Amino acid sequence: MRWFLQKCALFFYVRLVKPVLFRILPDVIHEKMLTLSKFASRHALFRWFIRYSMKYDNQKVLAQKLDKFKGLKFDNPFGLGAGFDKNAVTATAIEGIGFAYAAFGSTTARFCPGNERPWFHRLPEYKSLMVNVGLANDGVDVVSKTISNAHSSSTTLKVGQSIARTNDAKAADDAEGIEDYAHSLQKLFGKTAYIEINISCPNTFKGEPFTDPARLDALLTRLDAVERSGPVTLKMPSDKTWEEFRELLEVVVKHDVQGVTISNLRKNRENLEIPEEWKGNLSGAPTKDKSDYLVAKTFLEYGDRLVITGLGGIFTPKDAYRKIKLGASLVSIVSALMFEGPAVVPYLKRGLVKLLKEDGFENVRKAVGTAATKYAQSSKEW
Ligand SMILES: Cc1cc2nc3c(=O)[nH]c(=O)nc-3n(C[C@H](O)[C@H](O)[C@H](O)COP(=O)(O)O)c2cc1C
Repeated sequence: MRWFLQKCALFFYVRLVKPVLFRILPDVIHEKMLTLSKFASRHALFRWFIRYSMKYDNQKVLAQKLDKFKGLKFDNPFGLGAGFDKNAVTATAIEGIGFAYAAFGSTTARFCPGNERPWFHRLPEYKSLMVNVGLANDGVDVVSKTISNAHSSSTTLKVGQSIARTNDAKAADDAEGIEDYAHSLQKLFGKTAYIEINISCPNTFKGEPFTDPARLDALLTRLDAVERSGPVTLKMPSDKTWEEFRELLEVVVKHDVQGVTISNLRKNRENLEIPEEWKGNLSGAPTKDKSDYLVAKTFLEYGDRLVITGLGGIFTPKDAYRKIKLGASLVSIVSALMFEGPAVVPYLKRGLVKLLKEDGFENVRKAVGTAATKYAQSSKEW
């Protein structure tokens, strides 16, 4: 009965709701979706309905305790990636849909109005969204209160916060930028289950200074001195060669960082027909192959030290299973929520359980990285 309801919700969203939503400007729809999720989070009847209709019980196969991630337990491998809800106002709805964890944010030390509108352009033919938000958010002093409430009131959702450097002239200097991150980390102490450090937002006027190994080392050295209550994962850039990416990982493993989130938006527009005047960077399907590659390579060299969260172009259970077999212990989505609707979460969980069982894995943990070597032998080098 519930599966039928979830299938109907998927069908209804993709065939009826999405065509209407996609006629409206994406900037407007994003705001409306947040308002709707906030509303649903606040009203008991909606909360109950979301939980009831999106429920999927098969936690034994999907649940994991990640020792390398300070022993954090996850009900299933699916999480919401950073960017959907910068100010952490929809946690109850996100938990109700069935996500095991969520990276809210990215938030910054100070309020940030973001870039000039439009922030989004849809590319349905590529299953992608062009994003040029520029880290608009209320600032960590405000967000730390909402995130703290979300963390203390959630039962299963591991509430994470993504932090980035404020996108303004003050934090453009490296030393100020480092203090900006340190302030956010300090402010969030005890208020989240984990922290994601976003060094790879491609939409800021000062670029991504901390995707340079020496500057990353300076940043992480400073952050090592800040007390934290849970594990830390680093949100990695996607537009690096493996050699450049590995140099960053060499720095990461010397510091108090437990994981890497692979990866952020794609900058390169190769082989895609996109109007030149559209500003921003790509989410969704165009990010998938590079992210798969970086997940596999990272797993093979650093899998014994770092927990990998894989994201980029996950729309189906097969996409998620592939990232897991390439080395991701956790998998996140952002674009799929917009393209497929909330019922995509039980759809992904149910499909993943089926795939794991078909291959004889009694728990998702056992599948992690099982295809990485074979993949790396045949994959092209990036
Ligand atoms: C609307 C939107 C906003 C985003 N904002 C952020 C952000 O603030 N911080 C961040 O680390 N990543 C951000 N991202 C990148 C996503 O977290 C993710 O890395 C990327 O979209 C690939 O995943 P997907 O294919 O599931 O969308 C954003 C993505 C989208 C679609």
